[in-house]
Amino acid sequence: MIDNFPRIKLGHFPTPIESLQNITKDLGGPEIFIKRDDCTGLATGGNKTRKLEFIMPDAIKNKADLVVTVGAIQSNHARQTAAACAILGIKCLIVLEQRLANAPESYMNSGNIFLNKIFGAEMILCPTNKNVEEFAEEIMDDRKRQGVIPYFIPVGGSNHLGELGYIECMREIIEQDSEKLFTHIVLATGSGGTHAGLLLGRLIIKVILKLLE
Ligand SMILES: Cc1ncc(COP(=O)(O)O)c(C=O)c1O
Repeated sequence: MIDNFPRIKLGHFPTPIESLQNITKDLGGPEIFIKRDDCTGLATGGNKTRKLEFIMPDAIKNKADLVVTVGAIQSNHARQTAAACAILGIKCLIVLEQRLANAPESYMNSGNIFLNKIFGAEMILCPTNKNVEEFAEEIMDDRKRQGVIPYFIPVGGSNHLGELGYIECMREIIEQDSEKLFTHIVLATGSGGTHAGLLLGRLIIKVILKLLE
């Protein structure tokens, strides 16, 4: 099913699953494993690689010459989107949201901000009295008037296309778990796309297995 959706290879898959022996021992509980989605590639890796593999073809299909996205100052999503755009030769504009009061200089200029600059992304700071998505829309309207074709990626790359990446990840996990060791998945969630994709992936696989019974 997933193979019917356009996809551009941006990362390294499948990512390995490793045993966390020391944490397992320290906690004295069930055996804990880690799915190494920090190793997906694309500007040091992270969970947005999987999402962008399905989102970027849509930007290209829509003939976008500018990808616009939003995120916190140190957004990993913004960094990986900037990298994907650099690879594909599409301009990238990141509208940054200041979520911290009195943010230190290093937070404002290093880390992902530094990498965004290297990848050639344009960055605009959203005024604190404005909603970041509305502000991004104003900027896009402005650019459209200048003849630009912008394409918007929501915060965290969490939309119906981005979720495909984590439906596929669930398939990958089940394939890797040949001994049926895993009973629970624990994950970090922010914009919710990773969580939604994994849940939907599990549901689809359950339905397929039921149909095969
Ligand atoms: C490293 C990392 N893990 C997990 C998440 C959460 O993923 P999602 O936005 O799909 O909920 C994010 C982004 O917010 C992230 O940067």
